[in-house]
Amino acid sequence: MNDTGKRYIIAIDGPASSGKSTTAKMLANRLRYIYIDTGAMYRACGLAALEQGVSLNDEPALRELLQRIRIEIRYAGEGNRILLDGRDVSQRIREADITKLSSEIAVIGLVRERMVELQREMGAAGGVIMDGRDIGTVVFPGADFKFFMVADPNTRAQRRFLEMQGKGVSLEEIRSEMEWRDRNDSTRAIAPLKKADDAVEIDTSAMSIEEQVEWLLKYVEQT
Ligand code: DC
Repeated sequence: MNDTGKRYIIAIDGPASSGKSTTAKMLANRLRYIYIDTGAMYRACGLAALEQGVSLNDEPALRELLQRIRIEIRYAGEGNRILLDGRDVSQRIREADITKLSSEIAVIGLVRERMVELQREMGAAGGVIMDGRDIGTVVFPGADFKFFMVADPNTRAQRRFLEMQGKGVSLEEIRSEMEWRDRNDSTRAIAPLKKADDAVEIDTSAMSIEEQVEWLLKYVEQT
């Protein structure tokens, strides 16, 4: 794979808890690539709007906010740290209110334009694995590798339930939040969640994280 020293752009898309973030992170470690979690960027935007009292309907205020805030992704071996104007918000953006808000803010065209611009800058040099909903379709339609990860809804809800343990959220609440978000993310007008025509689909329902990583690694190395 790296005979030519080429550092690829690898796009991984899919719905929530399909296994993409953990796999992307581990694959990046194995390849010594940078991992960029684009969902975290929409989450940070949502948090900024909430904290600064900017309504999602107020286009001028939202535009101004997007130009003003600084979203940084620090790549650490164990995952991404997300900084909003220099403050580490990695934990806060995983909470349920921001999860919902991130999907709501991601519907807005001017938000997506700004995020896509930042993501293209971050990935331009290659040697990057980016995960999200529209990486293979919009952000890097010419990516060297495109994967689309799926898993059945029950498996995804169980995975999320385990991640959220101790936060007082029931499996039922998670299931309905996930259904809502799947619908919202895949039916929006701009850059909806969908498999790129040339993406390779992987159903991770019955796969362990290690199997997912090995599968992708083999695919990248043999192609
Ligand atoms: O990957 P995640 O669950 O952290 O993403 C949070 C929300 O951000 C998701 O519901 C939709 C939005 N998102 C998006 O619209 N496009 C992306 N590339 C990544 C995330």
